[in-house]
Amino acid sequence: MPAAQQPDWRKHAAYDEACQGLASAPPLVTAAEVRGLRRSLSALLTTDALLLQLGDCAESFYECTPWHISEKLRVIDELGDRFSELTGRRVIRVGRMGGQFAKPRSQPTERHGALIIPSFQGHMINSEIATPMTRQPNPERMLWAYDAGDRVQRAMRTHRRGDGRTPETEGPWSSHEALVIDYESRLIRRDPDTDELYLASTHLPWVGERTRQPADAHVALLSAVVNPVGCKIGPTANPDDIARLCAALDPRREPGRLVLIPRMGRDRIQEILPPLVRRVANAGHPVVWLSDPMHGNTVKTRLGLKTRHLDDVITEALRFRDIVEESRQHAAGLHLEVAADEVTECVGGSVGSEDELPRHYTSLCDPRLNAGQALELVEAWAKGTATGGS
Ligand code: PEP
Ligand code: CO
Repeated sequence: MPAAQQPDWRKHAAYDEACQGLASAPPLVTAAEVRGLRRSLSALLTTDALLLQLGDCAESFYECTPWHISEKLRVIDELGDRFSELTGRRVIRVGRMGGQFAKPRSQPTERHGALIIPSFQGHMINSEIATPMTRQPNPERMLWAYDAGDRVQRAMRTHRRGDGRTPETEGPWSSHEALVIDYESRLIRRDPDTDELYLASTHLPWVGERTRQPADAHVALLSAVVNPVGCKIGPTANPDDIARLCAALDPRREPGRLVLIPRMGRDRIQEILPPLVRRVANAGHPVVWLSDPMHGNTVKTRLGLKTRHLDDVITEALRFRDIVEESRQHAAGLHLEVAADEVTECVGGSVGSEDELPRHYTSLCDPRLNAGQALELVEAWAKGTATGGS
């Protein structure tokens, strides 16, 4: 099957061993956990609960230490708690964590002075260090991704059982873009209780904007497993595409199965999203609609740094909510790129202008909100929520 964005590494000396290692490895998440999240997402639709999914654009192998993981979980807790307090609703929390190690790229190469080298594709594929050697794809990295993912998944499991502050059903669950077919396809396992196939690399895999073609490998892979599955939807989508995609991913129209994540851009969402929501509703798919108000609002500064303006992000999120609710569907919440530390990658809140961006810009890929900026967004969303709350 055609599969976009795959590393060319099949002739690498470590390829077969890496694939075999993954195929015989224990599952990173259990089938019971995956069923738990499916039930939570299904209940979300009937109870008007919310979903908050957040984390790095690209997770780093170097930031899978106990300290880094606990910092990320702290930010998820704080934002999730605040979202819940302000809206008076239950909030299911999902981290972009435990496997978010592979990135689709719009350009396969990049220029450094006179040198043209492969782009960074995430730690599962190559190194962020910009030399021709370190940017070669290395399949052994899939095993390192598995080990790093395992550390994160174990910490998240302990945290879920935690102190009983939030019910275990509210997470934090793991998620990542299921991009590298060699990795994901070898982590499919059978649920020992139901005999069904599930993807054991993460609780909630999603298909990215660049790999969502219904006849291609990524959609086929997620069609074959029972996990809840997400799909990003960019501004080039039309209602027919999305109807086909929903038919492939959710043929039985099961609540809790499908999470659709528009990422259109603050202006384009107005025209493009309404007919998509109507089409999906008419086709009878009980979808969890989530806004990614970041990926359609990326701009470059004068110095060539990628950034996003919090105003644009907030505008898209609120427009999303209005559009989804106009079709009497449930606007379930937000999918965000947020760092655990005080980064200055997006403009707004504590970052007054583009001139302040270089102060603490550490993202391996896209610009992330810091927790304060994310809180402003959550507050803006909550302000317009039509229920009690505090
Ligand atoms: C991402 O979530 O980092 C990403 C690459 O998103 P999209 O597929 O929507 O571009
Ligand atoms: Co990103």
